[in-house]
Amino acid sequence: MSPEEYDAWYDTPRGAWIGGVEYLLLGDMLAPRAGETVLDVGCGTGHFTRRFAQDRRIAWAAGADIDLQATRHAAGRGAANYVVADARRLPFPDRSFDLVISVTALCFVDDARTALAEMLRVARRRVALGLLNRHSLLWLAKGRGGGRGAYRGAHWHTRRELHHLFAAQPAHRLTLRTAVVLPGGGVLAQCLEAPLRRLAPWAGAFIAASADVA
Ligand SMILES: C[S@@+](CC[C@H](N)C(=O)[O-])C[C@H]1O[C@@H](n2cnc3c(N)ncnc32)[C@H](O)[C@@H]1O
Repeated sequence: MSPEEYDAWYDTPRGAWIGGVEYLLLGDMLAPRAGETVLDVGCGTGHFTRRFAQDRRIAWAAGADIDLQATRHAAGRGAANYVVADARRLPFPDRSFDLVISVTALCFVDDARTALAEMLRVARRRVALGLLNRHSLLWLAKGRGGGRGAYRGAHWHTRRELHHLFAAQPAHRLTLRTAVVLPGGGVLAQCLEAPLRRLAPWAGAFIAASADVA
């Protein structure tokens, strides 16, 4: 899929709804303070980087991705600065950004522990990750047997795995929440999202994890 096609998905009705739900959840967990800076690791075409850059509390934002084409596309859309970089070796000094986010990227990185350690190293205050939930309807539809389409090769995390992942890191106050319970994203899914999240808070396809830097 080209960067243009990937970015255009966020303009489809399903993509706009899912992107919006994910952004609101991450923003709620990140809780930016006025004047803070944010780095988006595995930013792809920069959809979330731009959204956070446009948050009036954020002073400036940057994105990093290993894919040159995606990074070029993101840079062409402005609003933030971008760098081609591997999440496992970020080219920034310690504590360079107040906040670090990473949205459905760590699930494609071979060594998630090293990548998370890097995010915590370059963060001053908080990190928030968006991942794929192994215990979700989306996993049943798209994740089994190595995954289909854009999900091929992705790792789908359980809550237990995330507790283990963060336990070995200089982080505290781990918070986990999920969203996008019915992944079809149609009118019914949108209407039922809030009640379903109350009924089955761990069933969303998107699992978000935030933690403060220790
Ligand atoms: C599913 S895309 C998500 C992109 C963007 N965060 C979003 O939500 O629209 C996963 C991204 O992770 C990036 N990625 C995979 N491995 C990486 C690594 N080791 N370092 C940095 N980025 C990586 C890919 O290039 C890709 O852009």
